[in-house]
Amino acid sequence: MDRVVIVMPTFNEAENIGFMIEELLGKEFPKINADMHLLVVDANSPDGTAKIVEGKMKRYKNLHLLSKKKEGLGADYVAGFKYAVEKLSADAVVEMDADGQHPPSNVSRMVDAYLAGADYVIGSRYVPGGSVPREWAFSRKAISYLGNLFIRLVWLKFWLHDVTTGFRLTRVKGVLDKIDLDNLMAKERFAYKVDLLYQSVKNAKVIKEVPLEFKPRLKEKSKFNPKEMVVTFKVAIILGIRDKQRFIKFGTVGFMGYLVNAFSLKLMTTLGVPGILAWSIPVELAIISNFTLNNIWTFKKEKIIGARRIVYKFFQFNLTSMGALVIQTVSGNIADAVFGVGARQIVLPFIILFLVLPYNYFMYNAVIWKTWKLPWFKSK
Ligand code: GDD
Ligand code: MN
Repeated sequence: MDRVVIVMPTFNEAENIGFMIEELLGKEFPKINADMHLLVVDANSPDGTAKIVEGKMKRYKNLHLLSKKKEGLGADYVAGFKYAVEKLSADAVVEMDADGQHPPSNVSRMVDAYLAGADYVIGSRYVPGGSVPREWAFSRKAISYLGNLFIRLVWLKFWLHDVTTGFRLTRVKGVLDKIDLDNLMAKERFAYKVDLLYQSVKNAKVIKEVPLEFKPRLKEKSKFNPKEMVVTFKVAIILGIRDKQRFIKFGTVGFMGYLVNAFSLKLMTTLGVPGILAWSIPVELAIISNFTLNNIWTFKKEKIIGARRIVYKFFQFNLTSMGALVIQTVSGNIADAVFGVGARQIVLPFIILFLVLPYNYFMYNAVIWKTWKLPWFKSK
């Protein structure tokens, strides 16, 4: 049976932790078809949170406690993950708050999604069935939603609906074990979870969002503050820009493709090669150059290897290039009709910039090198 360890950080949760333990170990775990464990990572809470956990450990053998000095939410989670993997042999870990905001009743559908094959399960407030507390003021709801939207925009990851949620499940093999936990950004803060999510999404093959009914805090007050929010956006933007490096490389390779095209056309002319070949060979050379350079540079992390695979993908790449041909022909003719033939030289850069480039970038990421895992492009 798969072992799922819920890692639950606590700082001064004496008023809530007992209730959470009873709900999870007493009520929810027996209903779930996995070997469920709860690991409380307590940051030496002065209010005696750990004492309560120790008391409950006598009754529940699936309850564990890691007491450590307070290093911040991200760092304490990392310590918990390591403990869960190394000491408890977890197959999957769950991030969950101790204050009742993540209802224990929402755990089972998260684990079900994992058991059904998901590598990364996101407890989402912004999918049907998910919610934020009704008693939240409109401004707070707006900040949460717009903050999320902003990060999704910066990342171009619209298919994720909740990127700041604190309720998530991560498969250890292939996802968590691929992440350099010691070097997460902003580990001492809440923002750690943005980097963790970003990297998990990259590694996970199957990602599933399940509804999270985010509840108001049971007792005591939140440790989140505006500073946490600023750092969260900062981390999100840095991660987003890193991704744009790929776009810059893509643009550079495209420009080199153009040079290959232009120089070989010149060569054809010098050699006196007949018209059809003189115009078509340079295109194919540019395609070869684009495919090769993108493969070893732009998409080096996703590099296509093996002769068969390269041949297959190169064929696909050529088909993709045909798509660009169709786009330019169709939009060019529309532009002719609207602006007249005289405007062609002005129209061309716009077609390239706004249609051909986005099209190519999309196809490379979604179809050829598959850095974007879009649900409607599942096939290899
Ligand atoms: N070990 C440890 N160390 N635990 C901590 C620390 C720390 O430094 N800081 C907070 N915690 C624990 C709390 O005791 C609680 O169980 C959990 O981490 C979340 O802290 P809250 O203070 O309840 O956070 P929140 O409710 O403001 O934020 C929640 O919602 C955000 C999204 O709106 C969390 O789920 C965040 O992770 C999430 O981003
Ligand atoms: Mn909370």
